[in-house]
Parts: sequence; structure tokens; C-alpha cells
Amino acid sequence: MVPMLDLKKQMEDIREEVLSEVAAVIESGQYILGKKVSQFEQKAAEYIGAKHAIGVASGTDALHLSLKALGIGPGDEVITTPFTFFSTVEAIVYLNATPVLADIEPGTFNIDPAKIEEKITPRTKALIPVHIFGCPAAMDGILEIAGKYNLKVVEDCAQSFGATLGGRKTGSLGDAGCFSFYPSKNLGAYGDGGLVCVDSDSLATEIRLLRNHGSSGGYMHSAVGFNSRLDELQAAILLVKLKKVDSYNEARRRKAALYNKLLCGDGQSGIICPPLGETGSFTFTHVFHQYTIRHPRRDAVREKLRAEQVSSMIYYPVPMHLQPALKFMGHKEGDFPAAEAACREVVSLPIYPELEDAAIERICSAIKSV
Ligand SMILES: Cc1ncc(COP(=O)(O)O)c(C=O)c1O
Repeated sequence: MVPMLDLKKQMEDIREEVLSEVAAVIESGQYILGKKVSQFEQKAAEYIGAKHAIGVASGTDALHLSLKALGIGPGDEVITTPFTFFSTVEAIVYLNATPVLADIEPGTFNIDPAKIEEKITPRTKALIPVHIFGCPAAMDGILEIAGKYNLKVVEDCAQSFGATLGGRKTGSLGDAGCFSFYPSKNLGAYGDGGLVCVDSDSLATEIRLLRNHGSSGGYMHSAVGFNSRLDELQAAILLVKLKKVDSYNEARRRKAALYNKLLCGDGQSGIICPPLGETGSFTFTHVFHQYTIRHPRRDAVREKLRAEQVSSMIYYPVPMHLQPALKFMGHKEGDFPAAEAACREVVSLPIYPELEDAAIERICSAIKSV
């Protein structure tokens, strides 16, 4: 069976270094907010191009703590995309703020800046673009709107570690960049983990407080915070993998280019392939957390792939506005047609640095036979 992702294969290459780093942490006796977390924060901030990076317990917490530190609360509206993983919206709901959705661009699956402005009200406080599947959202347009209406921008970079836009890394473009180190992510830990990148000193201080029970030291608490610290062991593992992440992403891009050539090269297959790295006036690098195509008969494609022992997944089958838990938003089918069409037509194919080209060739000929 060709899996969607093969983390054991990736481990083979870094086994010795990871095991020795893990052993060193265990022997250090320092397990919470120790040296490895500080080192990782410093290296990650340099890598992303942000002044501060704060390790937290998950990508969901990165979003939650960023929004809270930015002062988002009850009655505030936060605009995001209906085509994302649930936790983007969950983080807004945690703060009793109101999620507001704007439809997506069909080509990139990302929030469409042209759809954002009509959703702005006097209560709108922030925007959360999600760089879905590792493809940067149209930040130029998003930041322009944010500037015009004085809105905060929190980037959901859970799927886009290493992706760039106009030469800058995602996570350095808005007020806060939120990353997830869930094991399957492009930079993945061996458990949960997350990170917030910010330039503002005061925001960094606030997020550091919030992740550690609001503690300003010496059992003094200047805020009611959370227990949301990046684990020391995970930081040690992430330091090893951070050195590799550019080569992992480069390999993913090569795999995606081969898929694009084989599936869409003739321009007649009826399949829509993802963009590799250019839209109009700006260039970007996609890091292909997922390689996701649109196909008018995607269920038949999945059936054929199953028969050929190839995994595939639907990211995502149900948009946010039709999620049972978000019924209170009062939406119905038809409200976000581009997101709904994506949910009907998408299929994500195996992609990971170690995936063999021969497997991609086999997958593509199976798909083209449908
Ligand atoms: C787009 C998006 N946002 C947020 C998250 C939340 O990250 P975590 O699972 O680390 O809480 C994820 C991933 O799981 C995600 O894909």
C-alpha cells in the first residue's frame, strides 16, 4: 500500500541524532521550558524572519493564545475561511468571539481577499488567513484590507512551515504567525507542539505569560493563562528536524511538479492541479503539506486508487459553515459555493519527501484511466 505519508522512513535518516538528543534531555533533568525550548525558539524565529518565536503546546493553542493576546473577546468578529481544519474556527469560539466566513479562491483553496471586504462590520477585529495545504494565501490583498480597516492579521501557518511569499516566510507577514508541529506536518514533532511568531515585544511578552499560567515569576500571576508550553523533548526533536525542513520541502515540491506534469501536462485531462509557485504578479513557494487535485469524479478516482493499493484522503469533506458544532452561525448549503465545490471535488494524494517517483507514475496512470 502506498501511504499518504511515511514518518517511519523519515525517522531512518535522523534516528541516531534524534535518539541522542532525546537521551540528553532525559539526562539533563530539565523537562519544562528548558534550554532546548529556548534554542528552538531562537532558531525558529531566525528561520521564519520574526523577532520572537514562542513555543506552545499545539497549533490550536498558538491560534487561541495569539487571538487572546491581541485582545479578541466576546462580541468581536474574526473573519476566516470556510475551507480549513476545524481548529481555526475553534480558536475564535474559545474566546466567545464570533467567527465570520469569507469564501475561497477556487485555484488555491485559500480565502479570497475580494470576498473579505463585504464581511467587515464595525465589530470586525481580525482576519485569519490559512495557508491551506502549504500554499500561501494572497497576503498582499489581505494586508491591504487589514490596513484600511485597522484589523489584526493572524496567519494560520499550521500547514505552511517554510512556504514563502515575495521572498518572505509565511508567519512573518501578519501580526502573529501560528504553527503546528503535529507529527504529520512538514516540520512535525513526535507528539503535539506549536509556535507563535511575532515582531511585537509586548505581544511576545503577553503570549509567554499566557502559555504559562499568566506567571510573571515567583508564583506571581499577572493574568489567568493556560498550561500550554512546548515540551522540552519535542523541542529537542524539532531542532534536529528544523535543519532538514528545507530539503524536505524541496523534495515535496519536486514530487508535486512531477504529479502536475503527469496529470495536467497535456491540459486536457479535466483534472485541476495545484499551482506550483506563481500567481500573477507575485511569486511564492508552495510547500505541499498536501498535494490536492480537483477531479469531477473524485469518488471514482479514489475507488481506482484503492484497487491499486494507493491511499488517498478528502481534505476536507465538510466546510466550516456546515459543521454540526457551528450550527449557531446560522448558515445553510449554498452560502459559500466555492468552498462547497472544493469539498465535493478535492482529493489529496500521497506526498512526502521519500515517496518514489515510480509510485507517482503508477498513481497518475491509475487516475488518468478513470
Ligand atoms: C489549518 C490548521 N490549523 C490549525 C491546526 C491545529 O494544529 P494542532 O493540531 O497542532 O492543534 C491544524 C492541524 O492540525 C491545521 O491543519
